[in-house]
Amino acid sequence: MEISLQNVADIKKLKAVGICTIKGIQMTTRRALCNVKGLSEAKVDKIKEAANKLVEPGFLTAFEYSEKRKMVFHISTGSQEFDKLLGGGIESMAITEAFGEFRTGKTQLSHTLCVTAQLPGPNGYTGGKIIFIDTENTFRPDRLRDIADRFNVDHEAVLDNVLYARAYTSEHQMELLDYVAAKFHEEAGIFKLLIIDSIMALFRVDFSGRGELAERQQKLAQMLSRLQKISEEYNVAVFVTNQMTADPGATMTFQADPKKPIGGHILAHASTTRISLRKGRGELRIAKIYDSPEMPENEATFAITTGGIGDAKE
Ligand code: GTP
Ligand code: MG
Repeated sequence: MEISLQNVADIKKLKAVGICTIKGIQMTTRRALCNVKGLSEAKVDKIKEAANKLVEPGFLTAFEYSEKRKMVFHISTGSQEFDKLLGGGIESMAITEAFGEFRTGKTQLSHTLCVTAQLPGPNGYTGGKIIFIDTENTFRPDRLRDIADRFNVDHEAVLDNVLYARAYTSEHQMELLDYVAAKFHEEAGIFKLLIIDSIMALFRVDFSGRGELAERQQKLAQMLSRLQKISEEYNVAVFVTNQMTADPGATMTFQADPKKPIGGHILAHASTTRISLRKGRGELRIAKIYDSPEMPENEATFAITTGGIGDAKE
């Protein structure tokens, strides 16, 4: 927002809550803007008006939209089979969710992406920096070193390109997103990937009772909407992991798969692509497309190796 929108103080107030661009203003409701400390309703109206004058909020032709989609890139999972399943890897301008039981490789995949996102890839992808939000205290820089070795890249350089934050509550997790947006804005085009491992863990703790479910889902919806906007506004890939729970209704309906990802419809709709992970023999794991606008419901087998996620050896 270089343009003298209102005054510097107002821009600061907006930046403090992670709204750094005209697009960011357009993506935020009046009501949410009014909740920003120090912004009156009248001021918000003026800001909205000024933003819409600078950038028309309206329609694109399908052609223009397809040009915009050309900026979308994919980050490799480390396994060619897995990448094929995903149409090239983890997609930018989208939220990709991987869920599965414990030890199915969600955290290992998160670590691998921290390295592969830094490597140049197909279609002119240059590689870039990563933000990792850890809610379970399972981030291990040493794993990044192992994975860096596999790709023959320098340890220090790899670790330097990963910004790490540990989130302690679901509220803290949300607050961190303000910082994420500010960082993505500050170093425009440098950051390529945001990882949250895992998206639901803290919500599960903070809202434990049945009576709190509605509130939990409401807060979750706000967070996911924020993530969606960030992914589009800054053209980054958002990768989140998720846990599973036994479905209490499953035994009644004889469902084949009695476990399902938590987060309900809110998360189901927010994730662009959902991947289910399950265990195979030894270090093998099976990924399945659970829900995607473009990819068919296929499966791929990959392996968890010392060097991170890789292809299963024949
Ligand atoms: P939860 O967070 O508990 O739900 O599980 P997760 O899905 O995040 O599992 P995670 O990604 O932590 O995967 C754990 C699996 O990775 C285990 O089966 C480990 O044996 C394997 N693993 C972890 N580190 C290494 C390693 O350095 N080398 C190899 N070969 N495997 C590893
Ligand atoms: Mg994990």
